[in-house]
Amino acid sequence: WAAFSDDIEAILALKRERNAVILAHNYQTPEIFHCVADIVGDSLALARKAMTVEAHVIVLAGVHFMAETAKLLNPDKTVLIPDLGAGCSLADSITAQDVRLMRQRYPGVPIVTYVNTSAEVKAESDICCTSANAKAVVESLGAPRVIMLPDEYLAHNIAAQTGVEIIAWKGHCEVHERFTPADIRELRESHPGVTVLAHPECPPEVVAEADFSGSTAAMCDYVERQKPPRVVLMTECSMSDNVALAHPEIEFIRPCNLCPHMKQITLANIRVALEQNQHVVTLEPEIAGRARLAVERMLTI
Ligand code: 13P
Ligand code: SF4
Repeated sequence: WAAFSDDIEAILALKRERNAVILAHNYQTPEIFHCVADIVGDSLALARKAMTVEAHVIVLAGVHFMAETAKLLNPDKTVLIPDLGAGCSLADSITAQDVRLMRQRYPGVPIVTYVNTSAEVKAESDICCTSANAKAVVESLGAPRVIMLPDEYLAHNIAAQTGVEIIAWKGHCEVHERFTPADIRELRESHPGVTVLAHPECPPEVVAEADFSGSTAAMCDYVERQKPPRVVLMTECSMSDNVALAHPEIEFIRPCNLCPHMKQITLANIRVALEQNQHVVTLEPEIAGRARLAVERMLTI
């Protein structure tokens, strides 16, 4: 970590000075994930743990929707995102107006929105979900038909697991949509015995050929518990880097699809965020109130 020591030391000092904590998603680079983060995890864990934070300032090392979720759950705290350009192709695929039109088109059908959406979109929905709890959220509704927005592949993957009829949107994750079943077959051929784990944002044909599918945290847990000798994580590159550091005994095969949005966050801009109190996440109170309800409903599941 020597190349990063200047920034790491400065960030650790700034966290103490400002009474700040850093929440980092599993896709953050190892120097962020292992050296400066206080809390790491998948979207669900970050939302849950955001509620227990006592510090005055939360720096979200992740993408903008995650910072908004932390702010929704902590309206009185300062939530900072080090780069406002850290977006998400799923969040960009749908607007609040789109959700209102879906409600008009399918009256009475409950609307579940993935947390990978803006607060405005969450505010129009009945309940949120993440990849970790999507099945449980859909089943909790007890409805024969559910609208699930905006990830088409997650919606189809959950429909296959639940038997609930799911009306989907056409949003895709630009990282996970690139994996194909042919990739898995090639990996199995070139690396015999490899265990394949796929994120549920991957196309259904990819999930069908994987040995296991789950959220980023579920994939970490699988590796911890099963200790496969050889494994491939069909997800963003930094996941393998972070998990591999903790498991030198496991061989990680690494086809690498980077999330350009997650990679906007660096040690350098985390340091500037803490020094200059930027960029402060703000939400319109009326929208925040409705969006918070959808997130809180999810957290009771
Ligand atoms: P997880 O909730 O599984 O961490 O996924 C978040 C995400 O952005 C995946 O692309
Ligand atoms: Fe969004 Fe995909 Fe990046 Fe996750 S990996 S933040 S879903 S673009």
